[in-house]
Amino acid sequence: MNMYDIIYKKREGGALDKEEIEFFIDGYTNGSIPDYQASALLMTIFFQKMSREETYALTTSMKNSGDIVDLSEIEGIKVDKHSTGGVGDKTTLVVGPLAAACGVPIAKMSGRGLGFTGGTVDKMESIPGFKTTLEANEFISLVNRVGLSVIGQTAHIAPADKKLYALRDVTATVDNLSLITSSIMSKKLASGSDAIVLDVKCGNGAFMERLEDACELGELMVEIGKADGKKTIAVITDMNQPLGLAVGNSLEVIEAIETLKGKGPKDITELSLILASHMIYAGEKADSPEEGYQMAQQALESGAALKKFAEFIVGQGGDPKVIDDHTLFPRPSCFSEIHSEVDGFVGAIEARAIGLASQHSGAGRATKEDLIDLSAGIMLYKKVGDSVQRGDLLATVYGNDQARVDRGAQEAAAAFLIQDSQPKENALVKRVIQ
Ligand code: URA
Repeated sequence: MNMYDIIYKKREGGALDKEEIEFFIDGYTNGSIPDYQASALLMTIFFQKMSREETYALTTSMKNSGDIVDLSEIEGIKVDKHSTGGVGDKTTLVVGPLAAACGVPIAKMSGRGLGFTGGTVDKMESIPGFKTTLEANEFISLVNRVGLSVIGQTAHIAPADKKLYALRDVTATVDNLSLITSSIMSKKLASGSDAIVLDVKCGNGAFMERLEDACELGELMVEIGKADGKKTIAVITDMNQPLGLAVGNSLEVIEAIETLKGKGPKDITELSLILASHMIYAGEKADSPEEGYQMAQQALESGAALKKFAEFIVGQGGDPKVIDDHTLFPRPSCFSEIHSEVDGFVGAIEARAIGLASQHSGAGRATKEDLIDLSAGIMLYKKVGDSVQRGDLLATVYGNDQARVDRGAQEAAAAFLIQDSQPKENALVKRVIQ
C-alpha cells in the first residue's frame, strides 16, 4: 500500500477501505507521510466527498490514533460540548460554568482558531496566567474539585486530528462534512465523557451554510456518538451574523464574563442557556431540557455560574481579578472605527467576512506557525434588525498593527448591509437532533 495509490484512487472517485484509511492516519500521525501528500488527499476528499462508511472508518482511525481518556475517577455523568465553529462563539466560557454550577461535571478539551472561526483555547490564553495544558491527574482532580476544567487538545488524544486540524486550517479544506465529523467525533469519543452536546452552526459564518447540510452533519455526528455508546445531542443554531458583539480572543472573554454577570447580549445569553439546558438534561440533573433551562437560568441569576467561572480560572492558574478589571487583559494599541454612511436598518452582517476581518487584524492565523494577537478583534455596536443613522458607529476594529487593523476595518465595513426596511428576525435554534 502506498500514499500515491490512495490519493489516486480517491481522486478518481473510488471509496477508500478501512485499511487504506488506517494506513493514511497511522502514517500521517507518525510522520512517515508528509504534509504535501496529506494535503493532496484532503483536497481530493473535499472534492470527491466520502461515504458514510468511509467517514465512520476515518473517525475510528483518528480516535484510535492516540489514548482513550479514562474519566472514571470523576463521579457522575461527564458531559462534553463542542461547537462546529462560528464567529464570536464564546459559549463554552458561559455554558461550562452554567452546567457545572448545576452539578454536571465538565472535563472538556477545546481547540484553537480554525479558518475564519475562533477557538476556545486561544481565547482562554488571553487570561493572564491561565494554563491550557494540564497533566491528566491535575485535569481530573480539578474537575472533581471545581466541577469544570477546559484544556487544549493534548498530543496524546486523537493526535491525527491535532495534525490534520492545523493542516486543514491552512489548505482550505475545513468545510467538508466528513472531515468535520471525523475531526470533532474522534476527539470527543477519545476524551472520555459519557454524553456530548454538539452546537452545529448554520449560516454564512459557519462551515455549513445551508440548513440541510448542517442537519446532515448533526445527524451523522449523533449517529456516530450513539454507536459508541454516548448520549449525543446536536442543536442546530443560527450563524448568519456574529454571536454577541465581540469577535476576537480577549474581547470575547470579556463578553463571556459580562454574560455571566447577567449583562451579556441577548443572543449569547439565550444560546448559552439553551445549550446548558441540554447538557444538564444529558447529565441527568434534570428530567427534561425545559427543567435544565430553568436550572441554568437560576445559576445565572444567582451568580453561582460566575462564582464557578472564578473558581475555574483560579484552578487553571489564571488571575481571577480579570473578572472585575478588564484592563488586565492584553490591550490593543491601534483601532479603526466603522461608521454608517446612510440611514436605515442593518439588514445583514456577513459573519464569515467579520471572522476574516478579525483574523486579518491579528486575531487569527494564516499559517500553522503564526503567533496571534490576543488583543485584536472587532466590537460590533449594531446587530441585524437595529436601526442606524448616517454617522452612527457600527463597529471598531482593534489590534497592534495599524495597517492590519485598517485592512480589517475595510473588510468589516463591507460585511454590513444597510437597507431601508427592517429584516425579519432569524430563529436562534433551528432544530434539535437526538
Ligand atoms: N471543530 C473541530 O474540532 N473540527 C472541525 O473540523 C471543525 C470544527
